[in-house]
Amino acid sequence: MPGFKGMFVPGPTNMPFRVRQAMDVALEDHRAPDFPQFTLPLFADLKKIFQTKTGQVFIFNGSGTGGWESAVANTLSPGDKVLASVFGQFSLLWVDLCRRFGLEVDAIDVEWGKGVPLDDYRARLAADKAHTIKAVLVTHNETATGVTSDVAGVRRILDELKHPALLFVDGVSSIASIDFRMDEWGVDVAVCGSQKGFMLPTGLAIVCVSEKALAARQSAKLPRCFFDFADMAKANAQGYFPYTPAVTLMRGLRASVDMLLEEGLANVFARHHRLAGAVRAAVDAWGLRPCAQGPEWYSDTVTAVVVPEGCDANEVIKTAYHRYDLSLGGGLNKVAGKVFRIGHLGWLNEIMVMQALGGVELAMRDVGIKFEPGSGTGAAVRHLSHADQAMRIAAE
Ligand SMILES: Cc1ncc(COP(=O)(O)O)c(C=O)c1O
Repeated sequence: MPGFKGMFVPGPTNMPFRVRQAMDVALEDHRAPDFPQFTLPLFADLKKIFQTKTGQVFIFNGSGTGGWESAVANTLSPGDKVLASVFGQFSLLWVDLCRRFGLEVDAIDVEWGKGVPLDDYRARLAADKAHTIKAVLVTHNETATGVTSDVAGVRRILDELKHPALLFVDGVSSIASIDFRMDEWGVDVAVCGSQKGFMLPTGLAIVCVSEKALAARQSAKLPRCFFDFADMAKANAQGYFPYTPAVTLMRGLRASVDMLLEEGLANVFARHHRLAGAVRAAVDAWGLRPCAQGPEWYSDTVTAVVVPEGCDANEVIKTAYHRYDLSLGGGLNKVAGKVFRIGHLGWLNEIMVMQALGGVELAMRDVGIKFEPGSGTGAAVRHLSHADQAMRIAAE
């Protein structure tokens, strides 16, 4: 089919031409004498993306799942207690990983569509007078349901209770798109991958680690090798890696970090919020609802749209893909067939969002979902229109 394909899964995302061009280079010698001149400034600038001064960023070959593993394997011992909550496929898989590592996980089951249950976390942590809970897990943005949770709220609870547990955050579909503050929120390990907000191909696990988490490594007994923070820290200090790094991807990462910093993080977050608002306006105008059960849970990177009873969301996804070259995300696990997901993160602007929404309208109409054609795109235009905004500001 002629024309651009529409890539609106919530990762991998659309890759900027500048990032692609940055990776169109000959393979490089990762032990070259001048390699640190490339890596050391990259490590320093990545800290700005995580909003940390005291944390250390490690770039592992891998993906988000490897980042999860690095957090657990470096800081915990077999049988350690971990507090977690499950409200989507990714929070579920992280708990599964912890259990496979022999950790004792208290995983609170939450209705899919909501996020981290602060009151339950408070109750569990308050009852844990002996401080047996060694780590608390937060999936900042549950990509399966389009739900964002309150990381700062979890930190407040830990501080109020003076509970020393480590705070691990899965920021795979939030970091570099939604506000994330490593230092201010006292996060100990923040996990990200390259294929979402960083606008790169899959292949890197980008992990930010606090001084407290690095210190915990010394007494932690779980086995680790590939993801060992200490090996990485030692080699990184000189600008090198303990094994062959994905240098080509790191060239792309350099470009993506430059783009994010040039735009300014605050502007990146505001852009995501604005574009997400357009998607939500469209969903509302279609007479449908997001899986996220209220504004406090709305995600600015992905919206899972619940289809009407009796409709199959997979039909929308298949039709969008085959007839219109538009990739939408599918429903996973409990919400399979019930939702389709629109990814709205990374290298994205108004026109691209309109492309996605127009494509969704075409596909929904083809499969017989009842809505007024143009209602969603119209609502999005109203939401995005600069003229509308100017009028609102003038009226204020
Ligand atoms: C929130 C979240 N965490 C973890 C993962 C797993 O990351 P990966 O597929 O890069 O291993 C994903 C993947 O989409 C995700 O969305």
